[in-house]
Amino acid sequence: MKKVWLGSSWKMNKTNEEVGRYCQLIKPHLSNLSADLQTFLIPPFPYVKQVETALSETRCLAGVQNVGWASSGPYTGEVSVDMAKDIGASLVEIGHSERREWFGETDATVNKKVILSLNTGLRPLICVGDTADEKCWGVSAESIVRQVKIALHGVSAEQVTKVLIAYEPVWAIGEHGIPASTEEAEMGLAAIRSGLTTLYDSEIAQSVPLLYGGSVNIHNAKMLLRQPNIDGLFVGRTAWQPEGFARLIQLVTEVIEEQAYA
Ligand code: 13P
Repeated sequence: MKKVWLGSSWKMNKTNEEVGRYCQLIKPHLSNLSADLQTFLIPPFPYVKQVETALSETRCLAGVQNVGWASSGPYTGEVSVDMAKDIGASLVEIGHSERREWFGETDATVNKKVILSLNTGLRPLICVGDTADEKCWGVSAESIVRQVKIALHGVSAEQVTKVLIAYEPVWAIGEHGIPASTEEAEMGLAAIRSGLTTLYDSEIAQSVPLLYGGSVNIHNAKMLLRQPNIDGLFVGRTAWQPEGFARLIQLVTEVIEEQAYA
C-alpha cells in the first residue's frame, strides 16, 4: 500500500509555550501510528528544532514553511536550505499561495527553491493552486499543471521521487475558504498526476505523493482520502490544536485500515 501523508503547517501562529504543550499532547497519538501513515508538522522557523526534538521518537517529520532561493549570501532575513537542515527540517514547504500572494513568490523562485532543497537532501513540498477567477474561467487544470511543470523544471526522474506536491485551491484555503468538493480535489490531483506522467512516466508519477489542502476538516477528511489520486492531506486550522490533529490521525488511520481490507 502507498504511504498516506498527513501534516499541518502552523503558518505564523503559536508561542514557545504553546508549541511545548502541543508536542506534549500530540506525542502519545504519534507513538503507535500505522506503518502506512507518515505525519509531519511545519512550525514557524523558531520552533522547528523544538518540534523535531520533542517528536524525534515518533514518525512525525518537521519542516520549514519557506526557504531562500540562494544557498548563501547578502539576503537579509532569508534562511538557507543548509540552515533549514541544521535546525532539523526534513521537509521544505515551497510556493504556498500565501507566499505567492503576499511575499512575491513566483513559479521561477519556486523552481530555484525546489532544486536547492533536493540538492541539500531535503524533501520539497510544492504547493500549487488555482485562483477563484481561474476556476470561474475553467482553466484550473491548466493553471496548476503549469505551476507544477515550472516548479519541476530541471528536476530529474530520480530526484522527483523525493518531491511531494500539494494541490491547495486558493479559494479553499483559510477562514473564508470554501472547501473543495471531493470531485474538485480529485480532479486537480488527477490533472497533476497526468502532468507528471507526461513529464516523467506513469510509474514515477504514481510514486510522487499528492496531497490535498484547503479547509480540510474532520467531516471531509475521510471522503477526500478515499479518492484515487489523493495520497494525503495538508491541513491548516483543523490541526492547529493537538486535539484536532489527533482526531485527523484517527480518521486517516480508519481509511488506511478500510483500504487494507478492501
Ligand atoms: P486551512 O486548512 O486552514 O484552510 O489551510 C490550508 C493550508 O493553507 C495548508 O497549507
